[in-house]
Amino acid sequence: MTRAARQQNEARQEALAKTNPLFGPRKLKLGTFCTNVGGAACMSTMEGVYEATWPNVTATARLADDMQFEAIVPLGRWQGFGGVTKFNEQVYEAMTFSAAVTAITRAPSVFATIHVPTLHPVLAAKQATTIDHVGHGRFTLNVVTGWNKAEIELFGSPLLDHAERYVMADEWITLVKLLWTSDELFDFEGKYYSIRSACLKPRPIQPYPALMNASGSAVGKAFAAKHFDIAFSGPTKPDPASIRQQMDAHRNYAHQEFQRDLKVWMTAYMIIGDTEADARRQFEYCVHEKGDRVAAKNFMDGMGIASQSIPPDIMKRIGDDMIAGYGGFALVGTKEKVASELQMLAENGVDGVLLTWPAFIDGMTRFKEEVLPLLAQAGLR
Ligand SMILES: Cc1cc2nc3c(=O)[nH]c(=O)nc-3n(C[C@H](O)[C@H](O)[C@H](O)COP(=O)(O)O)c2cc1C
Repeated sequence: MTRAARQQNEARQEALAKTNPLFGPRKLKLGTFCTNVGGAACMSTMEGVYEATWPNVTATARLADDMQFEAIVPLGRWQGFGGVTKFNEQVYEAMTFSAAVTAITRAPSVFATIHVPTLHPVLAAKQATTIDHVGHGRFTLNVVTGWNKAEIELFGSPLLDHAERYVMADEWITLVKLLWTSDELFDFEGKYYSIRSACLKPRPIQPYPALMNASGSAVGKAFAAKHFDIAFSGPTKPDPASIRQQMDAHRNYAHQEFQRDLKVWMTAYMIIGDTEADARRQFEYCVHEKGDRVAAKNFMDGMGIASQSIPPDIMKRIGDDMIAGYGGFALVGTKEKVASELQMLAENGVDGVLLTWPAFIDGMTRFKEEVLPLLAQAGLR
């Protein structure tokens, strides 16, 4: 990376660090994921699986705030995935969720997740600025292009082909950044958007809000590295060397191709047991006795995770992780094991982890009481 690019990266991160906890000094950042949707990340009929009610949103937000989590990340979701659980059918819209949850918390960055084709850039920029002011500069925007045909067609527009989604998204985010930062009236003429005499006031509190993108494809990774502050890397192999290599590859790519610094996060689900066997039993119960295979299949079919192209044993693991925690990294074991796995992730270059629990509120409470003190002892929190 050139010196000028390094200085530019440092300047942005220093500016964000003044108000946005995602850029603070903690070695391992933590967040919750999916608390605006029914089931959260778990496709199971077992007792205690998350229900999307406002009291539950408030309870999880307060727990996250008490633990000084850096992030609360809702899903952008418009339709559920069926099955006996009607997985993710109940959804609170993400921008309004973010505004309300920001107002009742003090520590975390409360994200909103938006689908590019569903929201005009002027409206998105305005809404994001308002939330950034509500939280005194804590807001982060997760931008997704949308992959679920039924969800995008709900808005009366066709799902564009994969490459074209990113052409549109590139124009969208370029325009939103201009709307956040320009002090002069400007016009914009693109393929998808045409803007006349734009100049939005007030400006956001952050130079412009922190940006997350969690694309998985090659074109998506390029998009993330070009525009965003935080990207996600899915768990491939769970051993430390592979995780280190995966994180380094992601960051190096952004350095080399776009001269940009990227924070790389992961998602993980957590099951804490009294013993290893107890944790395993809870996993078996959640996934094999009570798991909603139909919802998992509907989700994976929609995402194009096809069993024909993946070996059966790996496909089974993907399916199990999907049911337990939306395909996140498995943190299953005693409190000591879970803490040491989180430490392993931090030591191997994972900047932050978005957590879910199959029985969300009970699991999160147990995490607070049993695992968080161990993370503090290890100097991670
Ligand atoms: C942490 C995380 C959060 C995501 N949130 C959403 C979401 O809320 N809504 C959605 O439609 N897709 C979401 N996605 C999907 C991705 O943004 C992306 O669209 C998908 O992985 C397809 O990637 P691709 O376009 O590069 O093929 C999420 C993915 C991850 C890893």
